[in-house]
Amino acid sequence: MPEKIIGFSKLSREDKIAWISSNFLNESSEFKNILNEYLNTDNEVQALHNSFSENSISNFYLPYSVSPNFLINNKNYCIPLVSEESSVVAALSNSSKFWFERGGFKSKIINKIKTGQIHFKYKGRKESLVKFINDIKLDLIKSTDLITKNMRIRGGGIEEIKLIDKSNDLDFYFQLSVNFNTVDSMGANFINSCLEQISITFEKLISKSDYLNESEKQINIIMSILSNYTPDCLVETSVECDLDKLGNIHGLSPHEFSSKFKDAFDIAQIDTSRAVTHNKGIMNGIDAVVISTGNDFRAVEAAVHAFASLDGNYKGLSQCSIIDNKFKISLKIPVSVGTVGGITDLHPMVKLSHRILGNPSSSDLMKIICSVGLAQNFSAVKSLVTSGIQKGHMKMHLINLLMKNNASKIQIENAKEYFKNKEINNQSVIEFLNLKDFK
Ligand code: MEV
Repeated sequence: MPEKIIGFSKLSREDKIAWISSNFLNESSEFKNILNEYLNTDNEVQALHNSFSENSISNFYLPYSVSPNFLINNKNYCIPLVSEESSVVAALSNSSKFWFERGGFKSKIINKIKTGQIHFKYKGRKESLVKFINDIKLDLIKSTDLITKNMRIRGGGIEEIKLIDKSNDLDFYFQLSVNFNTVDSMGANFINSCLEQISITFEKLISKSDYLNESEKQINIIMSILSNYTPDCLVETSVECDLDKLGNIHGLSPHEFSSKFKDAFDIAQIDTSRAVTHNKGIMNGIDAVVISTGNDFRAVEAAVHAFASLDGNYKGLSQCSIIDNKFKISLKIPVSVGTVGGITDLHPMVKLSHRILGNPSSSDLMKIICSVGLAQNFSAVKSLVTSGIQKGHMKMHLINLLMKNNASKIQIENAKEYFKNKEINNQSVIEFLNLKDFK
């Protein structure tokens, strides 16, 4: 076992690589070669990427793809996507084309409030605390003036501060919950800076209060942090068409297809095992856009899954209805993203994604993300209730299996035809590569 290393982050790149090599890779030179192959040839670009994270020693590629024909609120988008899963982009393109011909996606913002909390413990009389907070609210907001100046110019800032009593759930526990409008930025740094300032002012004002008694002044601030749960930063997208406009799908009539499809959506409402996978399909699309546009997919994932459990049971996030011969699916999710700030202003590929999307506002990006999630969901469930998921998935995965088994260029070409009507798996690919006729 290697010894604990102190000061690793201060080592040069060369020394970091040497340390990993000797401690974990038997001094293999292949490691260094691979790391170097993945470096950008432009030193400035590489330096920029190094600056995004500590201990960066190379870059990690994922495919940067696009899906055209996304009609959202009558605007035709080409969506940049970052995903390693072979079938995600193909499925999306299939879905976007299908719905382009049926009126496209309709998307709307429901609300856009973000929150953060100052978590504290207070052992005094509740009425005193309520009065005290009401009296100092404006001072708390005023103390953030320097931080909020630019945001206010852009139309955002702090909207509200509320005292929340949580002492029934945890002894003496209260929150100051602050509502923010961060306009086009995701706003994490902005929110956290405001909260930390508010908490400093809060402590100062407590000590000066003339009607809290000495023991009541012993408020214990635990922490101040934004919440990634954003149930009031909501967007909703739907697609709909007359039942007969669905056409025959994989040999199923519109009636047969829609009825099976709705059953699949309904199952995700009542069964957690299915709901998680149903939502994972939605996130296949959502994460791919969130990453390509330089946003925090961990935050979006966390919020979405908490929202899926809003009533205490984890449920599918999307709904399907068939009413008066109209087939409709919709998706309502919290999405907190930005189109300015963070790496959106720095990463060349992220900047490119925003340009491809026409430099959307954060509201427009929310609508795009939600539409892509619904499109992905439609495609996945359409396959599940008809051909099954593996056919399309393995078709896209074939190339990975061929590469993994060192197929030649000519074998890769031949494989497409050979596997048209055959089962694709690792074994069948190995058998194919051993056939003389296709070498
Ligand atoms: C695979 O990445 C995603 C699916 O499992 C989603 C679903 O089952 O709805 C196909």
